[in-house]
Amino acid sequence: MKQILVTGGAGYIGSHTVVQFIEQGYFPVIVDNFSNSSNKVVSRIEQITGVLPAYYDVDIRDRDSLKTIFQEYDFDAVIHFAGLKAVGESVKQPLRYYANNVQGSLALFQTMQEFACHKLVFSSSATVYGDPEHVPIDESSTLQTTNPYGQSKLMIENILRDLSLSDAQWQISILRYFNPVAAHSSGLIGENPNGIPNNLMPYIAQVAVGKLQCLSIFGDDYSTPDGTGIRDYIHVVDLANAHLCALTALNQGHGCQAYNIGTGRGYSVLEMVKAFEKASGKHIPFEIKARRDGDIARCYAKTDFSRRKLSWQAQYGLDEMMVDQWRWQSNNPDGY
Ligand code: NAD
Ligand code: UFG
Repeated sequence: MKQILVTGGAGYIGSHTVVQFIEQGYFPVIVDNFSNSSNKVVSRIEQITGVLPAYYDVDIRDRDSLKTIFQEYDFDAVIHFAGLKAVGESVKQPLRYYANNVQGSLALFQTMQEFACHKLVFSSSATVYGDPEHVPIDESSTLQTTNPYGQSKLMIENILRDLSLSDAQWQISILRYFNPVAAHSSGLIGENPNGIPNNLMPYIAQVAVGKLQCLSIFGDDYSTPDGTGIRDYIHVVDLANAHLCALTALNQGHGCQAYNIGTGRGYSVLEMVKAFEKASGKHIPFEIKARRDGDIARCYAKTDFSRRKLSWQAQYGLDEMMVDQWRWQSNNPDGY
């Protein structure tokens, strides 16, 4: 059984990926400081898979603890999710974001190097494309960021490119996620944001269960067919599967490579509201508000490269995303 270290494995995307790894016969080991997750996730993963994954309550900046874990296992690869991810918060607390994301990643990569573990899949984001010059966005588009969160992702990408140039043993996949939504079809794991959600899908879902009154739609005057922003929403289980494919591709060797992980198709905010209403049978009241600072009109992926190189492609459509989002939210109105 191949042992895989999953940093941030108790989080939203990490927990879904751990499930897929267990189901494919891997032995994932979770390292998470639970700063944005609950340790109940681990027993939910056991309910789904029948396997209780090993987990450690450790901050990845703590190199001594990381070393102890690397001594205990023989990791074939690392899947690196651990990081802070709220754009607005990063503008207010840049030092916290750089310290957590960049310093944490450095500590992890140094420990990997020390233990001769050179295979890595890193969670990056479509945010590294900033306001894209054209859509669909391909991997060679200009990289630019507008906030400390995005900057921290780009810094880590650059560190990884340098690392790979310095030593050909490193095999690195950078996955640039578009907009992850939905939840595992069991309804047992899903996204559990702290406080009022920043992102569209959890916000809509919380309006549907009555935790929030009304959705604010940030702008209806963009140059899109209905005036609201367009994004490439991707089912989190498709996203989780991309990590398995990325790991398989790493075994064939390719240095450091970035891949877009999206569906290639964009939906507007109003289309998302309608689709959710259809899946849940709930009415979602909304108000049109001013544009949100830093938002862009359209963002969706060109996926040809990841399809060809990773033999991966998203399987789930919008209706499945909405049904699974609603199952998770209605079964767990207050999260874990
Ligand atoms: P999440 O917050 O649910 O998961 C991140 C996990 O990392 C959490 O469990 C948190 O407790 C843990 N963590 C944070 N800092 C840590 C540290 N220093 N040491 C140990 N654990 C730490 O977020 P997610 O949505 O699952 O995102 C996972 C990754 O994907 C993140 O790196 C995020 O930036 C990236 N990403 C997310 C999205 C999105 O919209 N969800 C989009 C693009 C990229
Ligand atoms: N939106 C609303 N109302 C809300 C929340 C969002 O109208 O309450 C709109 C936004 O204006 C945007 C769309 O819904 O048009 C999607 O917004 P999200 O906040 O869900 O997602 P973003 O595309 O803004 O950003 C997300 C993550 C970023 C990441 C990016 C690309 O928050 O960290 O996807 O992966 F970089």
